[in-house]
Order: sequence, then C-alpha cells, then structure tokens
Amino acid sequence: MRVLVTGGAGYIGSHTVLSLLEKGHVPVVVDNLSNSSVESLNRVTEITGKPIEFHNIDLCDEEAFPSFMREQTFDAILHFAGFKAVGESVANPLKYYKNNIGSTLSLLKAIDATTSTNPPKVIFSSSATVYGSSTELPLTESSKTGEGITNPYGFTKFVCERILADTAEANSAFQAIALRYFNPIGAHESGRIGENPSGIPNNLAPYITQVASGKLSELSVFGDDYDTADGTGVRDYIHVMDVAEGHVAALSLTESGFHAINLGTGKGTSVIELIKAFEKVVGAPVPFSVSPRRPGDIAACYADTSLAKQLLGWSSTRYISEACADAWRWQSQNPKGY
Ligand code: NAD
Ligand code: UFG
Repeated sequence: MRVLVTGGAGYIGSHTVLSLLEKGHVPVVVDNLSNSSVESLNRVTEITGKPIEFHNIDLCDEEAFPSFMREQTFDAILHFAGFKAVGESVANPLKYYKNNIGSTLSLLKAIDATTSTNPPKVIFSSSATVYGSSTELPLTESSKTGEGITNPYGFTKFVCERILADTAEANSAFQAIALRYFNPIGAHESGRIGENPSGIPNNLAPYITQVASGKLSELSVFGDDYDTADGTGVRDYIHVMDVAEGHVAALSLTESGFHAINLGTGKGTSVIELIKAFEKVVGAPVPFSVSPRRPGDIAACYADTSLAKQLLGWSSTRYISEACADAWRWQSQNPKGY
C-alpha cells in the first residue's frame, strides 16, 4: 500500500515507517519537524536500505498541505502528527487545540472524507488518556471515555476520535480507526532510532535512561501511596515496535465505519518494577526518591487487548525487559539524541 504517514519523523512514526518498509509498503512522510529531526528517517533508510519520500509540510498550512494532497493518492493514512506534552497543554491549551484538532480537520478535508466515494482509510494515534478517570480494569474499548480527562492534550484525543466517528457515520465509504496506545517505550533493536525528547523528559522511561546515563541526577517517583501492590503508579508499557506493527496490522482491517482499538500488552507494571527492569539491563542502580503525587495521575491503567487480537490478529510479542534493553542501547549509543 502507498501510505501517507503524518508525523512520520517522530518517535512512534519513525518506528512505524520502518515496519511499513519491512512489510513492503510504500510510506510517504509529511512532518513539519516541530518535534523531530529528519535524521530519524535517514537512519530508517540506513537500517532498511530503502529510500523514504519526505515532505516538510505543516498539516495546518491551508495552502501547502491541500496542494500537496491534490497531487497525491494514498491507500491509507497513518495520522501521528500532533503535540503530546501533557503539562505544556495545560499551560498553553490553544496551541494544542489548534494543532491537534486543526491538523485532523485539515486532513479530513483534504481527502473529502465526508463525501468521497473512495477515501483512504485513516488510522489515528489516540491514547488511553481518553478513558479519563475510568477505574474499570482492564480498560476495554467500551469503558467510559471523556469523563475525568484532566488536560487539554487528552481532550484533543477525545474530540478527534469523535470527529472521526461522526465522519464515518456520515459517509459509509469512510473507514477510521483510533488506536488507543497505552504507554509506548523502547526503541528499535538496532539502537539507531529511538525516543528523542527535547529538554527534560516528562515520561518515566526516558527519564530513567537519562538518570542511568548520568545526564540527570535522580528520578522522582511521583507517589508511593496509591492503591497498588507497591504503592506506585501502574501502567501498561508496550514496546514501540509492537505499537508500530499494530499499525501495519490495522491496514488490513476492511470493515467500514469507526473502530476504537486498544494497543497495549494487558499487563500492568509499577514505577518501582520498571526501575528494577532498567537496573537489570543497565547493570547499576538508578537513584530515585519519592515525591508527592503528580496532579492528574491515576493509580493504575492497563488494557484489555482482546479486540486488537480479534479485529487485527495482532498482539504484543515483546517483553518489558526487551523494551528496557532497547531503550538503553539507544540512549547509551546516542547520548545527545539525533
Ligand atoms: P512525536 O512528537 O515524536 O511525533 C509527532 C510528530 O508530529 C513530530 O515529528 C512532529 O514534528 C510532527 N507534527 C506535529 N504537528 C505537526 C503538524 N501540524 N504538521 C506536521 N507535522 C506535525 O510524538 P510520538 O510520541 O511519536 O507520538 C505520535 C502520536 O501518538 C501523537 O499524536 C501522540 O499524541 C500520540 N500518542 C503518543 C503516546 C506516547 O506516549 N508517545 C501515547 C499516546 C498517543
Ligand atoms: N512517573 C514518575 N516519575 C517521573 C515520570 C513519571 O514517577 O519522572 C510515573 C507517573 O506518576 C506514572 C508513570 O510513571 O505513574 C508513567 O508516567 P508517564 O508520564 O511516563 O506516562 P503517563 O501514563 O502519565 O502518560 C502517558 C503519555 C500520555 C498519554 C498517557 C495515557 O505520556 O501522552 O500515557 O496513555 F496520554
């Protein structure tokens, strides 16, 4: 398939471009490099031996993006482009509503999603954040969404899902799939591509690797008084290559309409357990101290993965230990990122 990959130079996008190439698809990347470097794609070419068509375009650019789309045809679109920093979205909500919702609207307009008789399918990067304060565990796709979302970033995912669902309702020829990622971590096993956060990481796994490498001095564990086995927060950490392969599997789903599908492992891991898993691969302790809970965090979140298995024939295949080893290889071989 000829596949448009928006945000394809970013963390999850670049790993997915690699998976697409491995399976013989033809990815075309559009990215404005606002949170990435084209070096990620150079390295995917180095790994696969295959060139990648890249266009530096902002999806919200009302001239350049529609004009690019008029010249192209795609069988499917993987829509990763968007901003993702939860804290920044609280401080600057309009930036997030504008870019995340604006880019999705711009994409749907460019493919005439409501009226076309043969629009390309759209596979959207959603997040477990849409489940908000749902406490049902594991989280299934029919668990309540929207209630208790604590930040604008999370709302943009909820709203974009709704936009896609409404569009699929209006046009039976349009298929949209929202893949609700749990917590993607790790890197490609080559150590050549990986997560490249700008500044101090917000997320646990890149923070741990930067402490382990000596770049940061100590990890703060946000709360050890949750109602979990060891008191620290529990999440469903999934290897980024499993997430990438989930997208390739979703390309084969033929049933029309809107589908929301969890991409997780189904297994919860606590902050302390993740620290221990990293210490094993690093071969040294990761210094940490306990600090107060981070506002907006929930105690535990992990996926029911049966729908992905049923609809996509996909389930995660990699262990947490592999994700930690791969993240560490990337961090230690690329201490300054790209
Ligand atoms: P990332 O920041 O590495 O990748 C996003 C890419 O989109 C970047 O390369 C950025 O330059 C590009 N981009 C942003 N706005 C754009 C625009 N208007 N036009 C063109 N390009 C634009 O983030 P990621 O971790 O790879 O996440 C990819 C997607 O998955 C995002 O939508 C994110 O919200 C979602 N997601 C990520 C996680 C996670 O933990 N990483 C979890 C759930 C969902
Ligand atoms: N944590 C720490 N110390 C840190 C960072 C995180 O103890 O320095 C803890 C958090 O309190 C939480 C766990 O580690 O218990 C995971 O936190 P992350 O920030 O890595 O991930 P979140 O689950 O908070 O958020 C992630 C993505 C969001 C997405 C959400 C739901 O960052 O984009 O998963 O899918 F919305």
